[in-house]
Amino acid sequence: MKLILIGCPGAGKGTQAKKLSKYFNIAHISTGDLLREQIKLETELGKEVADIMHSGHLVPDEIVTKILSERIERDDCKNGYILDGYPRNLSQAEGLTDIIGEVDKVVLIDVDDKIIVERISGRRGCSKCGQMYHVKYNPPKAEGICDECGSKLVQRKDDAEETVKNRLRIYHETTSPIINYYDEKGILLKVSGIGGIDEITSYLIKSLEEA
Ligand code: AP5
Repeated sequence: MKLILIGCPGAGKGTQAKKLSKYFNIAHISTGDLLREQIKLETELGKEVADIMHSGHLVPDEIVTKILSERIERDDCKNGYILDGYPRNLSQAEGLTDIIGEVDKVVLIDVDDKIIVERISGRRGCSKCGQMYHVKYNPPKAEGICDECGSKLVQRKDDAEETVKNRLRIYHETTSPIINYYDEKGILLKVSGIGGIDEITSYLIKSLEEA
């Protein structure tokens, strides 16, 4: 199974992708996580993209596409994968078909911009295993500590309010045209991203199994 998750920053793509990946036993590929990993490791590529990401702009297509192409070659992708954060513009969407062929479904998680800033400012992620939390909607058992591995929870650098507004603007200008692109192919599944996290996962699992 090959899936794509689309949605504005903070829509819940990463949250749902992790749960769907476990349920369907397919890999979860987040281009944002892959790029952040490069920054953490202080590689040449990481140094090249750090400022771009921290300001909320998109990383050049050729860099992201190369990282993605290498990632999907790994063994854990043999059974399928969920792409979270790729494609992000029409050029990436068109190029993706050449790389992996057609995907089974494209899930659009729809959330109004108004609630995004609250969601993103409350987001915390595990510095070690990447598990995601929200201080109000999905809190860890012990404040600031990951339930899964006991490591410290941290906030992303691009989660500052002004940067989030910039990311939302870029999403509407650059990423949202790919919604029509996939709708016209007849493979778009739209879900409201407002509601309980588990409730949204159950709806998605049911819809994907029936598709
Ligand atoms: P990326 O890491 O992909 O970030 P994003 O798309 O901006 O999305 P987020 O990770 O912020 O949000 P999400 O939808 O995953 O929400 P989450 O599940 O965490 O990209 C970062 C940067 O990398 C880009 O700006 C760009 O620079 C670069 N990049 C990446 N891919 C690229 C590409 N293809 N081309 C070019 N550049 C690229 O949820 C958010 C919070 O809400 C969490 O705290 C969560 O617990 C909570 N939450 C989730 N669901 C709910 C719910 N139903 N109710 C209440 N709270 C909820």
